[in-house]
Amino acid sequence: MVNVCNKQTMNISSLDFGYLRKLVRQHSAIVLNADKEYLAELHLGKLALSAGFDSISSLVAYLQTQPFGDLHFRAIESLVTTETSFFRDIYPFEALKNFVLPELIDRRKNERSLNIWSAACSSGQEPYSIAMLVREQFPTLLNWNLRLIASDFSGQILARARQGRYTQLEINRGLPENLRDRYFQQQDNQWQIVPNIRQMVEFRQINLIDSWSSLLPMDIIFLRNVLIYFDTETKKTILAKVRRVLKPDGYLFLGGGETTLNLDDAFKRVHIEKSVCHRLI
Ligand SMILES: C[S@@+](CC[C@H](N)C(=O)[O-])C[C@H]1O[C@@H](n2cnc3c(N)ncnc32)[C@H](O)[C@@H]1O
Repeated sequence: MVNVCNKQTMNISSLDFGYLRKLVRQHSAIVLNADKEYLAELHLGKLALSAGFDSISSLVAYLQTQPFGDLHFRAIESLVTTETSFFRDIYPFEALKNFVLPELIDRRKNERSLNIWSAACSSGQEPYSIAMLVREQFPTLLNWNLRLIASDFSGQILARARQGRYTQLEINRGLPENLRDRYFQQQDNQWQIVPNIRQMVEFRQINLIDSWSSLLPMDIIFLRNVLIYFDTETKKTILAKVRRVLKPDGYLFLGGGETTLNLDDAFKRVHIEKSVCHRLI
C-alpha cells in the first residue's frame, strides 16, 4: 500500500477524466460535467490510495486494462453526487401529510394497501423521513399492507442507508428535534435510527436504467434530484417507465429543478399548497 498523497499525484488529466465520464455514463446514465473534475480529484484520489495506487492516473490505467468489475463500480460510485437531507425541501412532505396520504388512505380504505417508492434514495434520509411522517401522522397505516421501498444503484450508499446511522451534521440538516429525540439514539458521535422506523423501509439495489420488473404498481413515487443528472433521452425513457409503474391515480414527486414538461406529456403538473407534483392525465 502506497501512502503518498500530494496535490501533484492526485491531479487528473483530461484524458483520464474523459474515460471516467464515459464509464459513469455507461453504467449510471449520469452525465458528469467538466466542472466536476475537482470532485473527481478529491474522491478518486481517496479511492486510488485505498486501493493501493499512488496516483489517479495509475488507477485509471489499471481500470482501462481490466474487464468491468468491483473497482470500476467503486470508481463510479465515488463520482456520483449523493447529496440529500431529512425532509429535503419540506413542501413535498407537507403535501404528503396534508393532502396526498389522506386522499389515498380514503381511496384505498377497502383494500388497505399502499405502495410508496423512494427511487434514488441515497443514504436513506428521504425514505426514513416518509416513514417518520407515516408513524407520526397516519399510525393507522401501520396496520395496513404498507410497502415503503427505497432504492439506489449504489451498493455502497445503500449499505449506509440500511444501517441508518448519521453524523451530527446530517442530523442537523432538516430533522426536527422532536423527531430526533423520538426516533434516534445517540451512539458514540453518531445517531442511530430506531428499529421500528428502520424496519418500515425495504431497501433494494435498482439501477434506474435497468429493468424495473420487480416493482409493484406504486401509489406514490419520490424520484427526486436524480433526473437532473441525466440527458434528455434518458429522462424520457425513465419517465416512460414511471408511467407504467405509477397507478393511474398515483402521485409522482420530482426534485425542485426537475419537470416532466417537454419530456412526457402523459403527466400533468398539480400544485398542492407550495409543492408541485405530477399525475397521469
Ligand atoms: C442527489 S441524490 C438524491 C437523493 C434523494 N432522492 C434526494 O432528493 O435527496 C442522487 C442519488 O441518485 C443515485 N443514482 C444516480 N444514478 C442512478 C441510477 N442510474 N439508478 C439509481 N440511482 C441512481 C445516486 O447514487 C444518488 O444516491
